[in-house]
Amino acid sequence: MRVDVVTIFPDYLQPLTLSLVGKAVRDGLLDLHVHDLRTWTHDRHRSVDDTPVGGGAGMVMRPDVWGEALDDLVRPDTHILLPSPGGQVLDQALVAALAAEQHLLIACGRYEGIDARVAEHYGNTARLTEVSLGDYVVNGGEVAALVIVEAVGRLLPGVVGNPQSLVEESHVDGLLEYPVYTRPPVWRDLEVPGVLTSGHHAQIARWRRDQSLRRTAARRPDLLSRLDPNALDDADRHVLDTLDTSPPPAVEVPHS
Ligand code: ADE
Repeated sequence: MRVDVVTIFPDYLQPLTLSLVGKAVRDGLLDLHVHDLRTWTHDRHRSVDDTPVGGGAGMVMRPDVWGEALDDLVRPDTHILLPSPGGQVLDQALVAALAAEQHLLIACGRYEGIDARVAEHYGNTARLTEVSLGDYVVNGGEVAALVIVEAVGRLLPGVVGNPQSLVEESHVDGLLEYPVYTRPPVWRDLEVPGVLTSGHHAQIARWRRDQSLRRTAARRPDLLSRLDPNALDDADRHVLDTLDTSPPPAVEVPHS
């Protein structure tokens, strides 16, 4: 897969040279290119923004500069991603769909965003999705680009050494992952659950499944309600029917 990231802060993407994604790039599994948007400016100040038409705070990124950049980088198989708090919220299903693409082009906006005609024009002439990290605001698209490349990159064949670890993790089957333990068997008076040291693989699998269901019900009941009922067996249903469904403790948010 090829991924192009266009940003006014190329150094922000430096972490992608590290760890699994960095290795995937070095191994040729991910063809990653980070570009400075200012490459496509022509004025002395290399300006990428201007004041908002109609007034208001902040600056808006210029469509002419973005247009030149995207025209140079878009191919027939490109899926353009525009990070934006108003976009489709990124989840594992969207990540998996993006991992099947040949070419992602992530256009990182800053300031008050990119002139809306850029999304309109490339939405008409290419495939384009506005993507949100969640219902909060960050300062620009770079942090979203980091998240997207990391989440998509680890699904590319050969990037994660043991593909089984991609199967048994949170959100893959619509549930949160079960708790994991390592040695020592007792730490600060806390014991590893006995079933895990029993050597009984079927019982371990059942215990883990129960823990996944319980955790999801306690922490993310919204996920359970979206689950395909056919994905649950009788034992799963029994676990869910006998749950104590008191809500999890959450950070208190003051009323304004
Ligand atoms: N830019 C600013 N906030 C964002 C968010 N929540 N997701 C993606 N891009 C953003």
